[in-house]
Amino acid sequence: MLVESAAAPSRHHFDAVLHERRSVRGFLAREVQRAQIEEVLRLAQQAPSNCNVQPWVVHVVSGESGRALRTKLVEAAHFPERMNPDLPPTDKYRDVYRERQFDAAHQLYGAMGVARNDRQARFDAYLRNFEFFGAPHAAFIFMPKPFGTFQAMDCGMYAQSLMLALTSRGIASCAQGALILYPDIVREHLQVDAEQQLLLGISFGYEDPHVKANAARVGRAEIDSAVRFHG
Ligand SMILES: Cc1cc2nc3c(=O)[nH]c(=O)nc-3n(C[C@H](O)[C@H](O)[C@H](O)COP(=O)(O)O)c2cc1C
Repeated sequence: MLVESAAAPSRHHFDAVLHERRSVRGFLAREVQRAQIEEVLRLAQQAPSNCNVQPWVVHVVSGESGRALRTKLVEAAHFPERMNPDLPPTDKYRDVYRERQFDAAHQLYGAMGVARNDRQARFDAYLRNFEFFGAPHAAFIFMPKPFGTFQAMDCGMYAQSLMLALTSRGIASCAQGALILYPDIVREHLQVDAEQQLLLGISFGYEDPHVKANAARVGRAEIDSAVRFHG
């Protein structure tokens, strides 16, 4: 009884934030105030990590520096042969994972009005990744060598904590694997040393509701396809 009454408001707030977070792929130019960015970064520091080592190293790029990095990345994106992500590349998705990947693409391109066989429009949509989808800010999450899979999990927890903290303040975001495809460019621009492995980029800012891509919605599988109960 005590638990129910004490927990209810925060539980509802938590549920709302979790459901509200979604990938936003079109932002207003309006910047987020620095104090508010620092506030969400402080919240994200609450993410758990193995032995509390907190392996994430986060670079937030904004303003002129962000625009210059976008230009460099958009240029690089025309040269797929130059991709050299620090993480091993993912094999092609198969089976149900491929179906989900297809569905996500279908929802996104459907919302954008891009036909499946329109290669140019698809490439243009892909390029938007490197423009941070117009976001005025992007966070680049690194971890130092020789950290590997285990510490990458810690950084994943950090990333979700950060995005939920942003959502709770009305700030939209999109996690982007695309932003780690040319890590040398990012490292050079941000003056990050080669010991730092780039794991993820997250564009963030205020959502532009007029961008068609932002109408896309993807669902989730029911728990019985993900969870097994024992005992
Ligand atoms: C690690 C990671 C990498 C992602 N990379 C990209 C990306 O490069 N470009 C993109 O548009 N979305 C990217 N996404 C967003 C996913 O497509 C999205 O989270 C998924 O479709 C679920 O949709 P939702 O975030 O709207 O709930 C990424 C998400 C994660 C967690």
